[in-house]
Amino acid sequence: MSLQLSSNAPNFTQDSTNGTLNFYEYLGDSWGILFSHPKDFTPVCTTELGSVAKLEDEFEKRDVKVVALSVDSRESHEAWIKDINETQNTEVNFPIIADEDRTVAEAYGMIHPEASDTLTVRSVFIIDPKKKIRLTLTYPAPTGRNFEEILRALDGLQLTDQHLVATPANWKNGDNVIILPSIQDKDELAARFPKGYEELTSYLRITAQPET
Ligand code: BEZ
Repeated sequence: MSLQLSSNAPNFTQDSTNGTLNFYEYLGDSWGILFSHPKDFTPVCTTELGSVAKLEDEFEKRDVKVVALSVDSRESHEAWIKDINETQNTEVNFPIIADEDRTVAEAYGMIHPEASDTLTVRSVFIIDPKKKIRLTLTYPAPTGRNFEEILRALDGLQLTDQHLVATPANWKNGDNVIILPSIQDKDELAARFPKGYEELTSYLRITAQPET
């Protein structure tokens, strides 16, 4: 069965461009993003890894460690990183897992045999500091992912954890947010949302985004 939201993220030790990597040790108490791509030296993947490298500061601000993966070898990844850096005008510093024996790809359900029985699809897993899977996303090989959207979703998850708010459709950082329907106690509402809130219906209560 595929991994579901709130499942424990499987730990692994695997070769990578940063040497042997134990996933849990690498993440420590940080958030994590594990994302797979189908193959080294392919055009869409080259632009994706370049985009992630350019967002390094954004991931760091949110205390997120990024790990990429494909079933190619470490030597292949290392040679490809040179192309990514050159063509995308960036520097890939995050590790790329060399999952040649597919142990990680299988543990995370990244191989979809009806799409390809040898290559990983474009999976994304956002993992919280308790090692729970908080978001999954799967794109097919020809469709590049939007990593700004992944940052936006991370911001929403971190706000939910800190302030018991949810984020509405198309929310952007700084926009108003929604008070979780589970908070009903008037004293708790006043303490958590001192700037007040607008009650559109009993279940749709809008408030300014709390400070993080
Ligand atoms: C790509 O990254 O460009 C790609 C990889 C596999 C299939 C199609 C495109």
